[in-house]
Amino acid sequence: MIHDTQLVRDIAVEHPGATQVFRRYKIDYCCNGARSLSEAAAARGVPLADLRRALDGLQPSAAPAGAAPAELIDHIVTRYHQVHLQEFPEAIRLARRVERVHQDHPLRPQGLADHLAFMADDLEAHQHKEEAVLFPMMLRGPSPMMRFPIERMTAEHADVADQLLHLAVLTTDFTPPQDACTTWRALYAACAKLDADLREHMHLENNVLFPQFL
Ligand SMILES: [Fe+2]
Ligand SMILES: [Fe+2]
Repeated sequence: MIHDTQLVRDIAVEHPGATQVFRRYKIDYCCNGARSLSEAAAARGVPLADLRRALDGLQPSAAPAGAAPAELIDHIVTRYHQVHLQEFPEAIRLARRVERVHQDHPLRPQGLADHLAFMADDLEAHQHKEEAVLFPMMLRGPSPMMRFPIERMTAEHADVADQLLHLAVLTTDFTPPQDACTTWRALYAACAKLDADLREHMHLENNVLFPQFL
């Protein structure tokens, strides 16, 4: 049973499938999840009853949210870090092509390729810090030294969340125009997947992995 006063990030951790509902209603659960469900709904102008109905319809899962840090880190690196690094270059290529071919179209995503390239560089540096410094520290066990790098990574996640907001603006919420060609549609689908994956990735770090070390 989900309550209106429960924090969005706790609902995301405890109820599998909730993250999909939050994405649908554009509720930021990864970097801005320390708000109650009712506060988050009010901030987005979403009727609380609709949100509650969608969340209450989720199937309960037998799997507990708590995985051991080593297992979680392995999952984050293989399912998110490596996948983002594979998918960004293709999205950038598609964006360059769409911007060039449709330069006279009034709805072309101007600046999208550069924005994606900026995001990819930023993310690569961020993930490298996690893989080279923070995750090995975590695998050695809890230590008071971890607070600073965790705060630093959390602040960088907030920057990624801002970059994702700009990505949504550039792509009109990942919605191609009616007359968009297949490349344009594939590009926006790729951007929507990057958005979903990055939010899930940051949620796992901010709300599941990092709290185990604070
Ligand atoms: Fe990460
Ligand atoms: Fe991260």
